[in-house]
Amino acid sequence: MSLSFIHACIAEDMRMVDGVIRQSLHSEVTLVNQVAEYIVNSGGKRLRPMLVLLSAGLFSNIQAQHHQLAAVVEFIHTATLLHDDVVDESSKRRGQSTANALFGNAASVLVGDFVYSRAFQMMVSVHNMRVMEVLSHATNVIAEGEVLQLLNVNNADISDDAYLQVIHYKTAKLFEAATRLGAIISNASPHDEAALTVYGMHLGTAFQLIDDILDLSGDSEAIGKNLGDDLAEGKPTLPLLYAMRNSSAEQSQLIRNAIEHGGLDHLQEVIVAVKSSGALAHVKKLADAEVAICCAAIAHFPPSTFKQALIDLAHFSVERSY
Ligand code: IPE
Ligand code: IPE
Ligand code: MG
Ligand code: MG
Repeated sequence: MSLSFIHACIAEDMRMVDGVIRQSLHSEVTLVNQVAEYIVNSGGKRLRPMLVLLSAGLFSNIQAQHHQLAAVVEFIHTATLLHDDVVDESSKRRGQSTANALFGNAASVLVGDFVYSRAFQMMVSVHNMRVMEVLSHATNVIAEGEVLQLLNVNNADISDDAYLQVIHYKTAKLFEAATRLGAIISNASPHDEAALTVYGMHLGTAFQLIDDILDLSGDSEAIGKNLGDDLAEGKPTLPLLYAMRNSSAEQSQLIRNAIEHGGLDHLQEVIVAVKSSGALAHVKKLADAEVAICCAAIAHFPPSTFKQALIDLAHFSVERSY
């Protein structure tokens, strides 16, 4: 499943979204432009704006305000990445140095604030109170998710439910907002809006489960990030938690130590333990179950290229290598 194939039915619209993104970044302050353009030009999969357009396309023609909102969602995502890489002390994203590695933490945090607030300026221009409700709520919940995760750093005894709450908040909420917004701005019925809300939440959950697998088993070149970023900071992700509970006493202790103390000294041994415990297969199965829920949620829509692209995108999210 390739992204360009999924993207085909909205390729021209995505080019217009890219145009909005570029036009909207402008600032009189050179450092703002430098940092913001650096991260925007580094690419990214642009999944969230695609979700806005594909969801909207189920109900109406795609127009300028759809492009605007798709760009808003990508800006919120971009701002969270600028902040996240500071918090996670990450040095690589999208195959290049992170903004914090290049421009420093202060510049990344401050330009992240610029991008967030620019997103709010742009969303106001759409003059739709429901849109503002959904986006302001999602942005707030993402921040809570990141803080909740911070509270659980080095906690090897976090429950699966608490882990799931973190990923619902920090990641799935924005996917949910993207698909829900598509429905709202295309005047979908409350029933159809609810269906896309379910689709987005479960898609985002599957997406982050796979992200947590890729951090331990992916190809660094392909994902464009360093492996073991989660472990380095002692972040208890589900593959680690499952492996800790389903390994020999010795391997279990190794993983516990890695979570409680962070660092990458034992990364290779931890990866071996995770793989031999069956954790990757277990978490992939959970992600597949989330995708099944996504597809069921939109099953009642009549066949269309948009619906098919949403189904393909859900499958891409769990089969992806980047
Ligand atoms: C990265 O999201 C942050 C997570 C939620 C895991 P993406 O993998 O969608 O990032 P880009 O935009 O494609 O770089
Ligand atoms: C993803 O966080 C969610 C947000 C950025 C809010 P992660 O820390 O898990 O994602 P990556 O691995 O840095 O992309
Ligand atoms: Mg991170
Ligand atoms: Mg993080």
